[in-house]
Amino acid sequence: MTKENKVTITALFSSPRKASNSTALAKEMIRGAVDGGADVATFDLNRMEIRACRACYACKTGDHVCTIQDDMQEIYPALIAADAWIMATPIYWFTVSAQLKLLMDRMFALYNQDLLKSHFRNKKIAAAIAYGCEDPIESGCGNAIRTFQDMASYTGAELAGVVHGRGVTAEGRDPAVDGYLVPGSVAADAELMTKALQLGRHLLE
Ligand SMILES: Cc1cc2nc3c(=O)[nH]c(=O)nc-3n(C[C@H](O)[C@H](O)[C@H](O)COP(=O)(O)O)c2cc1C
Repeated sequence: MTKENKVTITALFSSPRKASNSTALAKEMIRGAVDGGADVATFDLNRMEIRACRACYACKTGDHVCTIQDDMQEIYPALIAADAWIMATPIYWFTVSAQLKLLMDRMFALYNQDLLKSHFRNKKIAAAIAYGCEDPIESGCGNAIRTFQDMASYTGAELAGVVHGRGVTAEGRDPAVDGYLVPGSVAADAELMTKALQLGRHLLE
């Protein structure tokens, strides 16, 4: 909570697509949270320079900070200050996007084996996941959910909820172009969008 007792949320979008389904789900969560009075900061990871963790372990000594000077230095304070994190990802090769995984690895700097000193402590995490397969199990969505679950249980954070879905066109199917699926819009799935809105609101409880 901030001084004004407002719940603060940091939302991380990781799709490179403008008409992103995972971002649309996350934005609906944000709408639910803002309606309830939350302050939300958003970061579009695909447009930021985030280098890979170099396993130097500098973050585990001294000031316990990451020494890589890139855009993560802008995101770290927002992650630390927030009460909750919204993480949005498309499924790429049966798990989270590389854009989000880069950030997750760098979040190692926020972890402390003494969970009382860990910046993950008491954080709520809500995930928004989009995939192309009709079957969520075949899509690899379960692997991404498992990653969020394990991250939360290892660090002392709380996985507050997950919304996931497949973008569908108005006709209820994905059109195939040159053998590739063109993602439709999750916005066509009213039930899913309501779930996202409610999860956003739930982050304030
Ligand atoms: C590189 C790449 C890998 C993908 N891998 C999968 C996959 O393993 N399983 C799946 O169901 N969809 C896969 N997709 C489809 C996307 O998950 C799907 O289009 C999703 O809706 C995109 O989310 P976005 O709209 O937020 O970008 C892949 C797409 C790309 C571009």
